[in-house]
Amino acid sequence: MPPAIPRHIAIIMDGNGRWAEARGMRRIKGHEAGAESVRAIAEECARLGVEQLTLYAFSEENWRRPRLETEFLMRLLKRFISAERETLIRNQMRFSAIGRLDRLPANVRRELDKTVRMTADNPKTNLCLALSYGGRAEIADAARRIAQAVKQGRLKPDDIDEATVAAHLYQPQMPEPDLVIRTAGEMRLSNFLLWQVSYAEFHVTDTLWPDFRAEHLHAAIEDFNRRVRRFGGLVARPAAG
Ligand code: FPP
Repeated sequence: MPPAIPRHIAIIMDGNGRWAEARGMRRIKGHEAGAESVRAIAEECARLGVEQLTLYAFSEENWRRPRLETEFLMRLLKRFISAERETLIRNQMRFSAIGRLDRLPANVRRELDKTVRMTADNPKTNLCLALSYGGRAEIADAARRIAQAVKQGRLKPDDIDEATVAAHLYQPQMPEPDLVIRTAGEMRLSNFLLWQVSYAEFHVTDTLWPDFRAEHLHAAIEDFNRRVRRFGGLVARPAAG
């Protein structure tokens, strides 16, 4: 039987710096190489029929890195989004971004908005970049907007439930991630999609992000297919024979 393809794959892309340092190169070379992996994995997800691919490209915490590195990452991002627009359109992919996008430089935001607009009606994989993103910040932002709705009389406190919170997240229509992949071996969630990953399966690989290619994605999907998802319930066991 062909493996089940997760609807939503979310990836914590880690190890760019280590990849570069192992080659005696500057860290930024690792980010450049990492951008190649982004292109390869996005195209493979479109080919496989993955509905959404969310990539943790820049966390709220990443602003604490040296200015030269954050500025380089912003330039790389701008270049990538404008250069890959054609790739997205050719593969009929949609593009979106989540996070505190108002913290991004205006020229990056312009490229983001343009790419979102130009791919909005495409039927294939939604490539979503988490940028200036933090899971706690997302939940706090949702809480603020819910409080505003209550203040304006559009919502009653007693009516607030999980669905209300979910509806106020950055991208309420996204299916919850089925599979979270983390590269470079760390067993941490690092403030990524905290609300949405409640029932996701985790796959951690030692492969560094710049080395991550289709075969590594296939291995993660095979691993996912070996899991038994219970969503807190019980799985029917075969009757004892
Ligand atoms: C983690 O590696 C990666 C990042 C902080 C940024 C991710 C950026 C890219 C993959 C490149 C560009 C992305 C796009 C969408 C064009 P690290 O620097 O933390 O690595 P280390 O843990 O080995 O130091």
